Amino acid sequence: MSFKEKIDLNKLPKHIAIIMDGNGRWAKQKGKMRVFGHQNGIKSVREMIDGAGEIGVNYITLYAFSKENWQRPKYEVEALMNLMLSSINREVKSLHKNNVRLMAIGDLGNLPKKNQVELQKAIDYTKDNTGLTLVLALSYGSRWEIIQAAKSLAIKYKNNEIDESYFNEANFQNELNTHNIPEPELMIRTSGEMRISNFLLWQLAYSELYFSEKLWPDFKKEDLFEAIVDYQNRERRFGKTSEQIQKS
Ligand code: FPP
Repeated sequence: MSFKEKIDLNKLPKHIAIIMDGNGRWAKQKGKMRVFGHQNGIKSVREMIDGAGEIGVNYITLYAFSKENWQRPKYEVEALMNLMLSSINREVKSLHKNNVRLMAIGDLGNLPKKNQVELQKAIDYTKDNTGLTLVLALSYGSRWEIIQAAKSLAIKYKNNEIDESYFNEANFQNELNTHNIPEPELMIRTSGEMRISNFLLWQLAYSELYFSEKLWPDFKKEDLFEAIVDYQNRERRFGKTSEQIQKS
C-alpha cells in the first residue's frame, strides 16, 4: 500500500511548511557544483505542488531563500536569484492552469528589482485562484518579521491609534507577513538537520515537526505523503492531556 493510499483525507494538514535543505550536499555527492543541486531542487518543488494538489492540501510554504543566505558566495546568490526568476517565469502559466495561487513572504525589497517585478506579476496573475496557495519565503527571517511586527505596533501606539489592551496574540499575529495565512500544522525539514533556522518561529509554535534524512532533490511526492501519514498518527494536544483530547 502506498503512503498516498494511507492518507486520511479528512485529517489533512491545511498548511505544510518546508525547509528544503541539502541541495549543496546532493550536488557534491555527484561531483557537481552546488548550483546543480539547486536546479534539481526545483524538480522537488514541482513534486510538492503536484502532490499537495492531488490530495487537497491548502497551503505550502517553502523556505526558498533566507536572510542569512545573502552571506553565501556572490556567484551562488546570483545563481539562486536567476533560478528563482527563470522558475517563476517558466512555471507561472502551469501554476495558473493548476489553480495555484502564488504568494511571497519576507523582506522582498532586498531582492533584485527584476525578481521583485516578475514575482509581483506572477502573484497578481494567480491571485484569484482557489486551489493550493504556494507561499515562497524569500529573503525571509523570522526574527526580522517579528521585529517588523513589533515596530508596526509601536508606531500605532505612539500615534495613539491603539492602547495597551491591543497587545494580544491575535493582534500581534495580524502584523506578521503571514497574517492572512493559517499556521502550519506540519513542518518538514530535509537532509537530516534538526533545526528551525529562523523559519516561522511564531507560526510553528504548535506545529508537528518532521525530519527526513533525504536531501531535498531526492524528496519526492511519496516522501511528502509519508510525512503526512506520520503527522496523522500523532496526537496534537496543545498543552492538554491525552484524555481531554480523546473526549473532545
Ligand atoms: C538549501 O540547500 C537550499 C537553499 C538555500 C535554496 C533552496 C532553493 C531552491 C530549491 C530553489 C527555490 C526557488 C523557487 C523559486 C521555489 P543548501 O544549499 O543549504 O544545501 P547544503 O546544506 O547541502 O549545503
